[in-house]
Amino acid sequence: MERRPLLAGNWKMNLDHLEAIQVVQQLVYHLEAEDYDASELVVCPAHTALRSIQTLIEGDRLRIGLGAQDCHWEDGGAYTGEVSAPMLAKLKVAYVICGHSERRQHFGESDEVVNRKVKAVRRHEMTPILCVGETLEQREAGQAEDIVVGQLRGSLAGVGITASSELVVAYEPVWAIGTGRTASAADANEMCGVVRRTVGELYGAEIAEGLRVQYGGSVKPGNIVELMGRPEIDGALVGGASLDPEDFAVICRHHRL
Ligand code: PGA
Repeated sequence: MERRPLLAGNWKMNLDHLEAIQVVQQLVYHLEAEDYDASELVVCPAHTALRSIQTLIEGDRLRIGLGAQDCHWEDGGAYTGEVSAPMLAKLKVAYVICGHSERRQHFGESDEVVNRKVKAVRRHEMTPILCVGETLEQREAGQAEDIVVGQLRGSLAGVGITASSELVVAYEPVWAIGTGRTASAADANEMCGVVRRTVGELYGAEIAEGLRVQYGGSVKPGNIVELMGRPEIDGALVGGASLDPEDFAVICRHHRL
């Protein structure tokens, strides 16, 4: 089955709404129709820039999708400072990153919390980009596979998935995020295969076959081609390099490099 790669820029806590508009305008300047045909392209701005980017995408009819970086698990209520899934859905957000390792590390998100968020995102008909990945310590102890399988099973418990388009998984080894260290393409491919196999155990072979599994962690213009050349890797979740429109454009043009 042909899986259309998904390239998503995770801007993290960077770019105010004016800067975000500039980055998208510069990005599209570097892209051609064939790039949008080859891959699905998504940007995940901070919540404060979502509305501006939504308006830009709609106004200029850009072939770029909108993603959010997080949401709360409740639809509304007394949760000061939080943003709910229905609020994001109203902004035509298509993807929501769930369980990014920075959320797990700095905000104590457990698989149970991630699970509630995934359910909220699905309830409002958006697609979770579910992040999983082991730490360096866990990798060195030979636990990488067990950790990733456990995160997937925990985060997807009770989540009904009936089509492969309803879920994206990003394999992001924690030690490769923002460090300049990339997993070798072979290791990344192997772990993305572990993700696919586990999703197959949960939802069946057909959904696993169509599932897009991204690699994330120091993806750059210099390593995207090698990563994308691997059969189990169907795209990338790009942090630092997605803040630079020229770098992100090169990544988006991977198919013609
Ligand atoms: P990075 O971040 O590309 O800066 O390593 C990736 C991510 O955290 O999604």
